[in-house]
Amino acid sequence: MKSIFVSAALVAAADALIARDSTCCFHLTASGGPGGIVGQLSDGQNRIGQGMLILYIVCLPGAQYCIDSKGGLTDQSGRGCILTPPTTQFQCDQGASPTDGFSVSCDGTLSFKGNTEFKSCPTGDNGGYNIYTTAPAGQGGCVSVKLSADSCKSGCPAPAPAPAPAPKTCPAALTGTYEYPHLIVPVDSKQPDKAFGTQYNGTVSGSVSSLFNFDIPTSDNGKTCSLVFLFPQKQNLETSSFAFSGTGGIDFAMLKGPASSSTTYNNRPGVGTGYGVTKVAPGNSYTIATFPCPGGSAIGFDLSTSDDTMLSYFQDYNPSPIGLYITVC
Ligand SMILES: *[C@@H]1O[C@H](CO)[C@@H](O)[C@H](O)[C@H]1NC(C)=O
Repeated sequence: MKSIFVSAALVAAADALIARDSTCCFHLTASGGPGGIVGQLSDGQNRIGQGMLILYIVCLPGAQYCIDSKGGLTDQSGRGCILTPPTTQFQCDQGASPTDGFSVSCDGTLSFKGNTEFKSCPTGDNGGYNIYTTAPAGQGGCVSVKLSADSCKSGCPAPAPAPAPAPKTCPAALTGTYEYPHLIVPVDSKQPDKAFGTQYNGTVSGSVSSLFNFDIPTSDNGKTCSLVFLFPQKQNLETSSFAFSGTGGIDFAMLKGPASSSTTYNNRPGVGTGYGVTKVAPGNSYTIATFPCPGGSAIGFDLSTSDDTMLSYFQDYNPSPIGLYITVC
């Protein structure tokens, strides 16, 4: 009776093996620990690090595994690969039904039930390492390895294109190409029809704001422009000076057009783009805005305050530069 059951079981196992469609075959290479081709001892134990021995004995560069639709592996000798209980050692046994649940990811990484980490533990036999899904208790020297298949990978989709780089900001210093204002005109809401004409000073205080014109050369087309406000310490100024008091809140805005020497508070260009309030203090440089350089045009900016700030400075690019500039990069 017993022998009949055994042969029936063997036939069933053989049928199961045949019923599985071995669709795709590959070799495995380990990385992360003791690397190298995964080979096999003649008894079907899968090993890393005994490549020469395996080469000598079975004349194979490495074991070959075929994966079926359920994720079961069968080796080149038709042995089902299992995770032997209780140690979870990865080996291929004659007559064994393969353990399901392996898969080869798009980049070729072998996983078991979604886990790509295997344990590789020294055997003490010719420098070889056995492979487990879980390091056996009491087994020392185990390291994590990944196993890569040289075939059966579908190829991973190309990574999504990198997001467009944020617009770079040009230096808040006059270290490269820069533009300085060609016109500075104060306007005063308390004298709304008075044209003060062009000045050397930028003045921001109470009812007074200052308009700055920049002429951007055509050669700056396609480049990036940063509006910067440089406000050094007084002791670093050689040819300039400033008077400053109050909170330091300055409202920067790009105007819809440039000013002229006859601009007054009442006829000044409207605000195109407001940049909000920047709180300024001596000893600092500020990048107010960055935009594509409008090469070949004149653009205007307005500096005003709605708090107790009082600033009057002599716009000067001599060391240390002070005032409103456009740096180009
Ligand atoms: C310009 O600013 C400097 C420094 O604050 C000051 O000494 C000078 O009087 C100002 N000039 C005018 C015309 O306001």
